[in-house]
This record gives sequence, C-alpha cells and structure tokens, in this order.
Amino acid sequence: MNGDGNPLMATGLLDDRPILVTGAARGIGCSIAERLCQEGANVIMLDRDPEVKDSAATISSACESIVVDLCDEESTKSAIQAAAEKMGGLWGVVNNAGIFAKTPLLEMPIAEWDRMMEVNVRSMVLVIQAAAPFMIQAGAGRIINQSSMAAKLGTPGEGHYAASKAAVGALTRIAAQELGPHKITVNSICPGYVLTEMGADTRDPVQVAEWTAKSPLGRLATPDDVANAVVFLMSDQASYITGEALNVSGGMCTS
Ligand SMILES: NC(=O)c1ccc[n+]([C@@H]2O[C@H](COP(=O)([O-])OP(=O)(O)OC[C@H]3O[C@@H](n4cnc5c(N)ncnc54)[C@H](O)[C@@H]3O)[C@@H](O)[C@H]2O)c1
Repeated sequence: MNGDGNPLMATGLLDDRPILVTGAARGIGCSIAERLCQEGANVIMLDRDPEVKDSAATISSACESIVVDLCDEESTKSAIQAAAEKMGGLWGVVNNAGIFAKTPLLEMPIAEWDRMMEVNVRSMVLVIQAAAPFMIQAGAGRIINQSSMAAKLGTPGEGHYAASKAAVGALTRIAAQELGPHKITVNSICPGYVLTEMGADTRDPVQVAEWTAKSPLGRLATPDDVANAVVFLMSDQASYITGEALNVSGGMCTS
C-alpha cells in the first residue's frame, strides 16, 4: 500500500540483486527490506536487535538476517563479509540504522552527542568501508544512506540529530565522488516525519497535528513512502543519479 492507500505493484525491478538493509528489525528499515524483496531482491537484514530474525521470517523465506551492533568495527566487517559471501556478492546497501533524541544544546551531556554521531554517522562509514569493495569487484553498485529532513531544517533540541544527518549528506557527496568511477551511485534520502515508533515515541498528538499541517499533501509519511524511493534509487533506472539528498517529506522541505 502506498500512503494514499493504493496497492503497490511489484515490477521485478531488482530481480536477484543482493542487497543489505541496516536497522531493519522494525520501522522504516523493515519496510524497505520488504519492498526490496517484493521487487525480487535477495535481502539480508542487519540490526543489533534480535527481533530482526522474526521480522525477516515474517517478510519472506528468501529474506535473511544477521544480529550485529554496527558500532563495533570488527563485528560489522565480519557480518558484511558473511552476508556478501552468502549472497554471492553485493549490489546494494541501505544504511538505515539510526537513533533519535531531543535535548537542548545547553542540557546535552556530551556523551549523548558522541553516541548520536557514533550510531548515525560512524556506523555508516564502517558499513561503506566493508561493503564497497564487493561492489567494486562486481563493477557497479548502489549505496543509499538514510538522512532526514532535519539535515536541512531541524527543530530545537535536535542539534546532535540534525548535525549527524547533515554529516550523512556530506559523507554521501564525497562517497559519490570517490566511488563514481566504479559505477557505484551513492545517495541519501531525507524523510520528513515518518509514522514509526521513532516518530510516535518522540512527539505528542498536538505536535503530530502540527507536522501534518506542514505538508501540502495533508499527511505524514508512511514507511512505504520512503521504501519506494529506495526501490527507485536502487534500480537501473537511477543509474545517473548520484550524490543527491532526496527529500521524501510530502513537500515540507523543498530545498
Ligand atoms: N521516523 C522518522 O520520522 C524519521 C524521519 C527521518 C529520518 N528517519 C531515519 O530513518 C531511519 C530509521 O528510522 P525509524 O523511524 O525506522 O527508527 P526505529 O527506531 O524504528 O528503527 C531504527 C532501527 O535501527 C536499529 N539500530 C540502532 N542502532 C543500531 C546499531 N548500533 N546497530 C544496528 N542496528 C541499530 C534499531 O535497533 C532499530 O531497529 C533512522 O536513520 C532515522 O534517523 C526517521
């Protein structure tokens, strides 16, 4: 279903493409894994939460999972190596794992800042370092990094989160330049407010109504709205799009 309630038709755009999705136990990552599977991809879902095993089993018997904390360098390398060997290579990676918190700058323990950067940016670098060599070997590939509308706008209390997502945009631009010669595209996605636990747990109903009113489409994003953008960027149809930060914000952010 898309956010308007219309059924999504599988097109086979990604038949047999081996793809990793991080932070896939729940929320947006889980929906991305499901949509990629619907499009014919072979998917391995990575998450530190063991629930990822149940999520993979629910999606499809063709979908597998690995429990891994992406902040741990050695475990991340081994998990990606194992996944690529199991799937016979790697076409794509969706760097979706992330955390959110809202704390004003003057009250923020510096450990909270460090943790935000560690999960939202450093883990992405570890995944790219481990995964890109398989794409270079294959002669092409796709990397999609989960950013946020906060990278471009943001609200009070999101200093660390917004900075981490802006860093994702910068990392994406540079990775696109470095990996372009290997026919690997690297893009980021900037969702607005998406209806997941991360979204619902951090805003009250009044704030949800306020955010809904900011979209000319009059609704918030569903995880599938984001997953559909991932399917497109992952496909052959997006082969000349790289270094971009694509808004999926229902028109809340247009720059
Ligand atoms: N929900 C929103 O409104 C929204 C908006 C814009 C961007 N995003 C981004 O989308 C992504 C997914 O968001 P969501 O709403 O689905 O969040 P979520 O909290 O529901 O899911 C995040 C997943 O990442 C996993 N994860 C966190 N740290 C990890 C680590 N160190 N190693 C492995 N896995 C780890 C969690 O276990 C969880 O399954 C995040 O990067 C988030 O910043 C979300």
